[in-house]
Amino acid sequence: MLLASVTVDRAFVVGPVRRRTFGSFVEHLGRCVYTGLHDPGHPTADADGFRGDVVELVRELGVSIVRYPGGNFVSGYRWEDGIGPRPQRPARLDLAWHSTEPNTVGVDEFVRWARKAGVEPMMAVNLGTRGIQEALDLLEYCNIRGGTAWSDRRRANGAEEPHGIRMWCLGNEMDGPWQTGHKTAHEYGRLAAETARAMRQIQPDLELIVCGSSGSGMPTFGEWERVVLSETYDVVDLVSAHAYYCEEDGDLASFLASAVDMDHFIDSVVATADAVRAARKATRRIHLSFDEWNVWYVDRAESRPPTGDDWPVAPVLLEDRYNVADAVVVGSLLISLLRHTDRVHAASLAQLVNVIAPIMTEPGGRSWRQTTFHPFALTARHAAGEVLRAAIDAPVHDTTRFGPVPAVDAVATYEPSAGGLVLFAVNRSVSEPVALTLHPRGFRSLRVVEALTLSDPDHTRSATADDPTPVLPHPNPSAAADDDGVRITLPPVSWTVLRLQAA
Ligand code: AHR
Repeated sequence: MLLASVTVDRAFVVGPVRRRTFGSFVEHLGRCVYTGLHDPGHPTADADGFRGDVVELVRELGVSIVRYPGGNFVSGYRWEDGIGPRPQRPARLDLAWHSTEPNTVGVDEFVRWARKAGVEPMMAVNLGTRGIQEALDLLEYCNIRGGTAWSDRRRANGAEEPHGIRMWCLGNEMDGPWQTGHKTAHEYGRLAAETARAMRQIQPDLELIVCGSSGSGMPTFGEWERVVLSETYDVVDLVSAHAYYCEEDGDLASFLASAVDMDHFIDSVVATADAVRAARKATRRIHLSFDEWNVWYVDRAESRPPTGDDWPVAPVLLEDRYNVADAVVVGSLLISLLRHTDRVHAASLAQLVNVIAPIMTEPGGRSWRQTTFHPFALTARHAAGEVLRAAIDAPVHDTTRFGPVPAVDAVATYEPSAGGLVLFAVNRSVSEPVALTLHPRGFRSLRVVEALTLSDPDHTRSATADDPTPVLPHPNPSAAADDDGVRITLPPVSWTVLRLQAA
């Protein structure tokens, strides 16, 4: 048994818990939209063809904001194809995923779905094959009340009220050579700046996100952010970050420590943004939108798009099945995002349904929660109020990818009006349980309200339609509070939420 402690102090506040930390992402990719969100033949489908069972699961997941429509897809997308009467919408080749896009779902349907699911829509514009004018047209279509060509088209298409979309991504992963219309940092920075300036002429209070790096391992990482932010600093609000992690070559210890990379990624982008700020003598700060993050087994066969003459509609793509170790990593990445709440102002779990997703569906059939659903839903539900800095004292073990890593990672939130202190913690040891003591400072004596732990001695099992609950968060009976602190035992490879209130 390893021994560890976490100290939190009511006075050491990082910043507010932001609801937008619990965002997600819907791309026209594989079965995310078609047979995921949209399945007109499904018994629970509404008049628009959206599955009611999926809407219920999205609500249960606690998602706040959803980025749309891509992803790599957006860099070849003509948004006008997806509006107006369906029989007149063209089918198009989707180069990003070697698929056929039927355009049955477009911006109006997505916004209707978002309202139904109770999430804020977040829109990306195509800066790959398109540019300023098409971004302006889409913004006019979405957000102008009426009296112009595009806004009247929206009204004629049945959306009398403007969609009122506030957050906009200026393209997607433009640093990646795989991106249609990939650009250098200088080329993209100029285009993003001019697009942002023009969009603000329509609506000054938009929240605009410029593309940062598609991974901390990109050769241009750092320099990309410096150049792009130097071009765009005065006209954007946030810079994006994307990161996917997976277990490689059976190296579970490194995989469990993936949040070390996310911490480093965030700290590096913050440092670069602040260096640009200092050089420009600016006062305003640029914040981060971590608008793609997850576990993704990118090299597995199911991540490879079709080839040749085969351009299917909604093929099975990126349908990763997640085990408990994957869920523990998802929980630990949420800990990292919350820890940086002063600078990470939005984040999107990529993606929402079927495609590297917490929610899975059968076409016309069942839907179920993957293991990764649980840490996300529980964190979204219980993180509230303010994020408190957690000082961690834990044994360190070596990992191949990230060097020495403490066995425990944790963050706490405190909601003063309800009096609730919540600790989110992971045990990243592959073999040893941890006896953890929480030292809460500046609180009256506390009692344990609930302790839930996600762990599985056989941490390879996944949920399936036939067996949707092989592993669920379970009450952790070891949690106990007294005047010296709160004690709990964390099994190896586990994620825990511990809820405390004034005794
Ligand atoms: O989420 C899957 C893909 O990952 C997205 O389309 C792209 O932006 C990223 O590379």
